[in-house]
Amino acid sequence: MIIRRATKKDVRELAGLWDKFMEYLQELDSEPLYERSKDSRDEWVKYIKKKRIGKRDSVMFVAEKSRALIGYCMAHVEKNKPIFKVKKYGHCDEFFVLEGYRGKGIGTKLKDTLFDWFKSRRLNYVEIGVLALNFGTIKVYRHWGFKDHAHNMLLHLQ
Ligand SMILES: CC(C)(COP(=O)(O)OP(=O)(O)OC[C@H]1O[C@@H](n2cnc3c(N)ncnc32)[C@H](O)[C@@H]1OP(=O)(O)O)[C@@H](O)C(=O)NCCC(=O)NCCS
Repeated sequence: MIIRRATKKDVRELAGLWDKFMEYLQELDSEPLYERSKDSRDEWVKYIKKKRIGKRDSVMFVAEKSRALIGYCMAHVEKNKPIFKVKKYGHCDEFFVLEGYRGKGIGTKLKDTLFDWFKSRRLNYVEIGVLALNFGTIKVYRHWGFKDHAHNMLLHLQ
């Protein structure tokens, strides 16, 4: 298994993983916020190729085994509001390992590689969002050193 930076050639295959990631979130979430729109896969591919690969402030790492992609993480450098002393921090946008490969240390390898990238960009903080009902992943993130910091709340207007 190798961890490497994603290239534009990976994006089609990654879209299959992204689809499974969205299915996973949708199953956890009773609200339709993660229901995919028509053509969502193609839209995701377009967006990732244009905005997230080959950009200085964005990064995507993949886990590859026997030439197949089995996990990935995507992150970017977030600018803090100019009123704050800390000017920028890392934000992890997506983190996913295929179901059959979880619990084998692949997520940890992706995380270590990502943290090294954040450090190389001289960032001192990393933020990650997670659904409140995603209990297993919350445990993993705490295990990786993340602390509960803010709660996102959602209201369905009737
Ligand atoms: C979260 C995720 C990326 C972690 O990847 P992974 O390859 O399973 O992680 P690892 O195997 O490296 O496990 C990390 C650590 O957490 C522990 N762990 C794994 N699952 C756990 C669980 N359900 N409860 C408690 N600890 C757990 C592991 O034992 C490991 O600890 P260790 O290093 O001391 O052995 C993966 O489980 C995943 O894709 N989950 C579904 C999608 C998801 O929730 N993504 C994040 C959305 S915000």
